[in-house]
Amino acid sequence: MEQGEVQKEAVFKKYARHVSSRKAQFFLDVGIHFVPGKREGPFIWDIEGKKRLINCHVNGGVFNLGHRHPEIIAALESAMRSVDIGNHHLVSKQKADLAERLAALSPKGMEYVVFGVSGGEAVDTAIKIARKATGRRGVISALGGYHGHTGLALAAGDAKYREPFLSGSPDFLQVPFNDVAALKNRLNPSIAAVIFETIPATLGMPIPDDDYYSQVKRLCAQNGSLLIIDEVQTGLGRTGRFWGISHYGVVPDMIVSAKGLGGGIYPITATILHKDLEAVFHEDPFIHISTAGGADIGCLVAQKVIEISSKDVFLQHVNDLADVFAAGMKALVLRYSKVLSAFRQKGLMCGLKTTSPDLGPLMTKACYDAGLLCIYAGNDTSVVQLLPPLIIDIPLAQEILQRMEKAIEMVEAFV
Ligand SMILES: Cc1ncc(COP(=O)(O)O)c(C=O)c1O
Repeated sequence: MEQGEVQKEAVFKKYARHVSSRKAQFFLDVGIHFVPGKREGPFIWDIEGKKRLINCHVNGGVFNLGHRHPEIIAALESAMRSVDIGNHHLVSKQKADLAERLAALSPKGMEYVVFGVSGGEAVDTAIKIARKATGRRGVISALGGYHGHTGLALAAGDAKYREPFLSGSPDFLQVPFNDVAALKNRLNPSIAAVIFETIPATLGMPIPDDDYYSQVKRLCAQNGSLLIIDEVQTGLGRTGRFWGISHYGVVPDMIVSAKGLGGGIYPITATILHKDLEAVFHEDPFIHISTAGGADIGCLVAQKVIEISSKDVFLQHVNDLADVFAAGMKALVLRYSKVLSAFRQKGLMCGLKTTSPDLGPLMTKACYDAGLLCIYAGNDTSVVQLLPPLIIDIPLAQEILQRMEKAIEMVEAFV
């Protein structure tokens, strides 16, 4: 065995012994014998330096700007020279500046921000605020949706993740996504909030009808319930607009942003609130805290992420890339109808719908063999998520399409 391979074997063994024996075994079983080593821009290399993958999953948006974006690294280095995580009790210039910037980029009236560390925490915060503001306990979410693995976020998610931890609760209801009648049926005076991902990633990127969110908002308002929009994957330019929900002309009560906000460099999340909701904290502004949430260092990193991803030229580039994928994938759907049945897309939030629930996992492996990191949707395994970094150039987009075609050909042999 060569030096790199020996090192990789050792990592697998140590991981199996001290992190997760079954996870290590799973990857060995499916032939994904890969440990990330060097990473740069859209690429990650195996620790032994031989295999290179184009990252078309980007951890659901964490690496929207690619790996180790030089401007983000420079922002972190400069932040480290002057600040640290800061003090979560005191007033902070960095938090105030970032909140002002996020408010300016959000729908009118959304003027306050509560910071956190993880997406789950940011969703928990949104649900806490909805409960305090309405005095109600109920939460409605989408069947097959995903909001994280922490307390309230987990309760709003699917039974598969919730039940093993006994986190189910009669206060949490689920309805089919993009079904206005189903939502109307379940809304009642106990419902504090309705929470949806703008486009549910774990459900395989179903694209909602154009008027879905205006109807959801109307129903929520009639019922006195708040609308929380989870933009953890769809935000920060992914769909070709800064927020995915802007495609639907709706002002929600809260927007949750996470993952990409930290540029893959420093974790930071934001729960952005309509200004009326800030009153939740008037009586006691210390009833919700997060020691490392909105760390001063993280705020400076996030400012750079936002500066890059809110520029018109950046968003135009996302839309140009989206056109390349639309044309290329449409042709592949026609050419390989035994494998693919549809291409779902809003900007670079894309899903390849295959013809069977068995094919998502098979495509994931075939993509890996073809040099692409693409992962099937956990709650609809017939769909492969396609989330290329937003910073790739057109030739790399074309290369991704060529590699995708190779993967589809491999899978076609099994159908
Ligand atoms: C839509 C959505 N919301 C929330 C989360 C939770 O984020 P985190 O893993 O940072 O807690 C995720 C994570 O995948 C997500 O995809």
